[in-house]
Amino acid sequence: MSLIDLGMPLARMLDPETAHALSVRMLASGMLRPRTPPPDPRLATEVLGLRFKSPIGLAAGFDKNAEVPDAMLGFGFGFVEVGTITPKPQAGNPHPRMFRLRANRAVINRLGFNNQGLEAAAGRLAARRRDGGPVAANIGPNRDSADRIQDFELCAARIAPLADLLVLNISSPNTPGLRDLQGGDAVGNILRRTIAAARDSGAALPVLLKIAPDLDAGEVEAVVEAAVAAGAAGLVIGNTTVSRPDGLRGRHRGEQGGLSGPPLFGLSTRVLAQAAGIARGRLALVGVGGVSSGADAYVKIRAGADLVELYTALAYEGPGLVRRIHDELAALLDRDGFASVAAAKGAGL
Ligand SMILES: Cc1cc2nc3c(=O)[nH]c(=O)nc-3n(C[C@H](O)[C@H](O)[C@H](O)COP(=O)(O)O)c2cc1C
Repeated sequence: MSLIDLGMPLARMLDPETAHALSVRMLASGMLRPRTPPPDPRLATEVLGLRFKSPIGLAAGFDKNAEVPDAMLGFGFGFVEVGTITPKPQAGNPHPRMFRLRANRAVINRLGFNNQGLEAAAGRLAARRRDGGPVAANIGPNRDSADRIQDFELCAARIAPLADLLVLNISSPNTPGLRDLQGGDAVGNILRRTIAAARDSGAALPVLLKIAPDLDAGEVEAVVEAAVAAGAAGLVIGNTTVSRPDGLRGRHRGEQGGLSGPPLFGLSTRVLAQAAGIARGRLALVGVGGVSSGADAYVKIRAGADLVELYTALAYEGPGLVRRIHDELAALLDRDGFASVAAAKGAGL
């Protein structure tokens, strides 16, 4: 489960979490050097007042501790989402907790917000030059927190001045009860208090909500309206799924946790399109779930995404994937006569 899976057959024999940790260490040490030329200028896009050299970003979970955002921007990603970051360091769930479903090019994980905590991530973000592209900080509560909304406030106050976007993760399936925050008054409360905490820190950055692909149509409508009412800038749609679509193969398919990769594509794209239909331009939308090609990214954009993210496909294909997606996406825009990503947005709705 790593960048080096492709180039180093040995990594495929390692436990996926070990392989991932190794690749982050190699990136952080400079042993793996990005060598991607800048993407086609037609892929450049402006969203929420920020400039992106490409709409393709790295999803949360790869760089949980903000160790390698600039290395990943160097591989050609238009932006990188670091985290999930919690106030206190946290070990996460017992091992093993990350499983490859090779036949489906999918992953099931139940990591449970393992991360080094807010101070470690903030220190690294503060040391950056901040010139390689936008970095989003994805924040969440500690598992044992007595006040989860306060955890979002604590993270926002510290990290908002150090990031370009803030993403509130209320959709990990691996922190018990977290997904309940998507319903009722909770969303509005979290957003209002977290946005205020960010503002009080002196940072006026866009705040987005990351939601589950498992919401039904009524829940999607409620969360979109609550997000708009509370002043959210956008939604990230979405996290891993607790559903188990048909066709999963291999001995790990019954593991508990969140499923990612191609089997999640249809579900997450449906929820994205639903949200786009309800939001009607009032929110920026980041489409994520099962993207592994330029054609997949194009479908997300046509379903209403301003930006697209991926993680699992990178683990199977290695960093050359970013370049391939850029080339394919530019060719598809050309084929259909779209001068920009923004022009294609929502064209399939
Ligand atoms: C190993 C792993 C760890 C993840 N950790 C996080 C996380 O900490 N926070 C988060 O918001 N999403 C996390 N995700 C979810 C991804 O950001 C993404 O939403 C999901 O995997 C769907 O995209 P994909 O199919 O391209 O992987 C994780 C995913 C994987 C596979």
